[in-house]
Amino acid sequence: MTEGRCPVSHAESAAPHRLDASGARQHAVNEELRARGAAVPVLLPGDVPAYAITRYEELKDFVTHPDVAKNACHFAALQNDELPPGWPMRTFATVRGMITADGEDHKRLRSLVTRAFTPRRVEALRPVVHELTATLLDRLAGAAAADPDGVADLRRHFALPLPMSVICRLLGVDDVHQDRLHELSNEIVSTRTAPERVPAANREMVAVLGQVAAARLKDPGDDLTSALIAARDVRDGAETGDRLSEEELIGTLMLTIIAGHETTLNLITNAVRALCNHRDQLELIRSGTATWGDAVEETLRYDGPVSYFPFRYPTKDLPVGDAVIPKGTPVLVSYTAAGRDERAYGPDADRFDITRSARHLSFGHGAHFCLGAPLARMEAVIALEALFTRFPGLDLAVPDEELVPHPSFVGNSPQRLPIRLG
Ligand code: HEM
Repeated sequence: MTEGRCPVSHAESAAPHRLDASGARQHAVNEELRARGAAVPVLLPGDVPAYAITRYEELKDFVTHPDVAKNACHFAALQNDELPPGWPMRTFATVRGMITADGEDHKRLRSLVTRAFTPRRVEALRPVVHELTATLLDRLAGAAAADPDGVADLRRHFALPLPMSVICRLLGVDDVHQDRLHELSNEIVSTRTAPERVPAANREMVAVLGQVAAARLKDPGDDLTSALIAARDVRDGAETGDRLSEEELIGTLMLTIIAGHETTLNLITNAVRALCNHRDQLELIRSGTATWGDAVEETLRYDGPVSYFPFRYPTKDLPVGDAVIPKGTPVLVSYTAAGRDERAYGPDADRFDITRSARHLSFGHGAHFCLGAPLARMEAVIALEALFTRFPGLDLAVPDEELVPHPSFVGNSPQRLPIRLG
């Protein structure tokens, strides 16, 4: 043992780690958790016991394990009424949609949505993404010009409104709802929202999306909501007559809005941060040695947008590494942590290297693999290329260590990204 170092007692190392909703020291904490084991006991807000899986291989195995479910009917504390009243993470567990469905139920929901959310529909958004990007870059320039120090917040003025506007265009949601939907989505997913606010935010979001769905039902358009309303299930070439129920439709719209903008916003913010901090990598793109797509993929690995993703539940006591996760315990998988696992990426896992062409798990793995990955990739590539082409001297306006994380352990990005446009 090294002299002068306190030995870590067994009791200490076995104590559950309290997941810190401040999001601070994300990568350092992840390193500690990976070192502690393949599955580590953690405490969620409200002191609800859970487990976290942070290593690449174990995460991959866990999310495809036949004895692991996503439907909250397997969540023991929820079923036994043992959760604190107004528990802020309840919506994560109970929202009705493919993200909380298993087996045939999941297949059915996913196939109905896939029929509407086609590659053609994503490709048709390309000119829209270009147009919105150009408009928002003007606004970003305006915000910097209006500031006495020439500083603008890239997150607020660009990385957030871009995916939010894209998702609203995709779904046919009126611009007037945009800001409110972002606020509500934030309240629902934030692990810090006052417990009594969550059900109200949930109800308001359901009400707004109910209006959107009703409008499209009456007057169908060329948007995803209309396509979801019309989508029917087809088996063996014949329609089964199955379609999304009203509750499933609203759940799907809600999931698409939340999953589709918080994540992409983190990706764009983290990519700009990483490229500003590694200008040699930016040069590789400018000289044609690497592409914007390479920068996007490496950001997904190096600073993954989705940190601790809730929830999965073992349907029987499940050994993971040295631990046995009790049946019915909620488990979070950390895609951000898996991206820095030295066992998967070698000793330089912490290095941002856009030429490494490494696989990553940041869009998930297995049956629940992200349905929006092609759209997110397209948005991020267009956004980065346009941003750094228009403002070649763009740089961070504060030292990296002064950036404060967005308060969440579900999403991963700084709360603000102050930049100067150069
Ligand atoms: C699922 C990440 C963008 C829609 C997922 C999952 C991850 C993920 C990790 C799997 C969750 C799990 O079960 O463990 C991301 C990231 C994005 C992004 C990092 C951006 C950088 C989007 C966009 C959309 C979207 C733009 C839609 C427009 C979905 C849906 C699912 C999903 C519908 C559920 C799939 C299922 O349960 O079968 N995403 N996502 N995502 N994502 Fe994304």
